[in-house]
Amino acid sequence: MSDQLPGDPMQYVSPQTREAQLDLDAAQRDEPTTLSASEIRDRNDHIEGARDALIVADDLTAGYIPGVNILNGSDLYAKSGELVGIIGPNGAGKSTLLKAMFGLVKVGSGRVTLADQDITNVRADQLVNLGIGFVPQSNNVFPSLTIQENLEMGCYQAPKKFQERFAFVTDLFPALGERRAQRAGQLSGGERQMVAMGRALMMDPSVLLLDEPSAGLSPILTGEVFVRVREINATGVTVIIVEQNAMRCLQIVDRGYVLDQGRNAYTGTGRSLATDPKVVQLYLGTLAKA
Ligand SMILES: Nc1ncnc2c1ncn2[C@@H]1O[C@H](COP(=O)(O)OP(=O)(O)OP(=O)(O)O)[C@@H](O)[C@H]1O
Ligand SMILES: [Mg+2]
Repeated sequence: MSDQLPGDPMQYVSPQTREAQLDLDAAQRDEPTTLSASEIRDRNDHIEGARDALIVADDLTAGYIPGVNILNGSDLYAKSGELVGIIGPNGAGKSTLLKAMFGLVKVGSGRVTLADQDITNVRADQLVNLGIGFVPQSNNVFPSLTIQENLEMGCYQAPKKFQERFAFVTDLFPALGERRAQRAGQLSGGERQMVAMGRALMMDPSVLLLDEPSAGLSPILTGEVFVRVREINATGVTVIIVEQNAMRCLQIVDRGYVLDQGRNAYTGTGRSLATDPKVVQLYLGTLAKA
């Protein structure tokens, strides 16, 4: 209080305080950068964790134009039954990583395995048969088809599965059953996401890759999508979810990765990432939103 002048209580800083503040700033600048708990130091943790994982992306490079890699040695694994999140800035390569795992972007080097089977650069339709479902970030329903027809498309490779899987999906998403005759193009954004996830579940996948299922949705619908994702995971499906709603994503996942410039920068449990000061500062705080 003794440093403050009447009428300007917040502005005035005594010379001594100012000097101390400058010292502190300088000391902070000089402080060597320390690694945070979740910062990736080497690949050993990945190699160890991936040992008994269901799906693994190992040291992937991939891109769209020859010679220009978007993924620069990306690692990821998910154990059976895990819910794993990927967050990171726009353009970091999150969608590219999912697409590379799903055979939609050519992997240049590295390996993707499913239950120890090499599936690198296997075609997407074959991966569906091997038990991987994928919901892309956009254009993920057929708008001119009805909900039921969209779900039929989900198991066009195994039409005999339809009845049983339709019952499973409409049990999970009752609204899809009730409104089965409605065209997907007439649905709200949130309802479309349910159709897209339902379609991907029609082949009874062991792994579901979800690319930003909450994109463009209101906070309430976003919350509903996250609840649904957890429900899908609770049925035993291993889920890998890319999300722009980073904090909410970290709240629901078992483990997460922060992808930056095509490489995993941080990893840990959802909670450890959400409370890691560097992750908060760089990817979850005001800087991240700027
Ligand atoms: N079809 C494409 N052809 C060429 N470059 C592409 C293509 N798709 C993506 N890219 C480029 O690859 C980089 C990574 O894109 P990607 O879509 O994987 O990022 P992202 O992390 O999913 O971003 P967002 O949060 O915006 O969805 C970007 O620089 C993007 O411009
Ligand atoms: Mg994306």
